[in-house]
Amino acid sequence: MKILLVGGKGTIGGAVAEALHAEHEVIVASRSSAVKVDLSDAASIAAMFETVGKVDAVVSTAGSGAFGALEALSDEDFAFGLGNKFMGQANLVRLGQDYVNDGGSILLTSGIMADHPMPASVLITTLNCAVQGFASAAALGLPRGVKLNVVSPPLVLETAVKMGWGDQGMPAAAVAQMYVDGLALEGVGEIVRPG
Ligand SMILES: NC(=O)c1ccc[n+]([C@@H]2O[C@H](COP(=O)([O-])OP(=O)(O)OC[C@H]3O[C@@H](n4cnc5c(N)ncnc54)[C@H](OP(=O)(O)O)[C@@H]3O)[C@@H](O)[C@H]2O)c1
Repeated sequence: MKILLVGGKGTIGGAVAEALHAEHEVIVASRSSAVKVDLSDAASIAAMFETVGKVDAVVSTAGSGAFGALEALSDEDFAFGLGNKFMGQANLVRLGQDYVNDGGSILLTSGIMADHPMPASVLITTLNCAVQGFASAAALGLPRGVKLNVVSPPLVLETAVKMGWGDQGMPAAAVAQMYVDGLALEGVGEIVRPG
């Protein structure tokens, strides 16, 4: 398959690229990749699809939003998170569906805090649930058998170590397998969760 991997240089995305590249042609896109895209800018997403052309799958392992308790989050935090992790991924579907070959797949990323909220995850939980809600309904209206599903990664071990949270979480290589599984789904609007 020809797979466009948005965010393919990140902690999860790098492992997904590694898991896919032996069997598939993987095109990585991000703000700093050879194929450039800024998820928060719809025109940049449209330009990316114009550059890359038709693909068999679009996988997103990008999307950011701020951690923080309710009283600590600013208007800008909400606007940034909604424009980036939610609208950016929604726009991958809205602008990208015509570039996905018949029967192909689009796979977005939410996260475990959709199901396990905590006080500091107000925005993250909101964004993850928004991505999942969007996909559950949008998946029902896509043309030509194009599938839309979501991977909800758990805390990644490499991220926990980088953040100084200790040795906890799932190794990125195991999280990458969730994306491989997600691409093999026959159904639509599904959430791939750990375990
Ligand atoms: N890591 C975890 O423990 C964990 C757990 C649950 C859910 N998640 C979710 O999984 C996703 C990936 O997480 P991660 O830890 O792998 O992130 P990461 O290491 O920070 O990597 C993010 C990737 O996305 C790209 N990116 C960032 N902003 C972008 C933008 N505006 N437009 C296009 N590309 C952009 C980055 O490349 P450039 O800088 O070149 O743009 C990079 O390739 C996120 O949605 C995150 O919320 C992560």
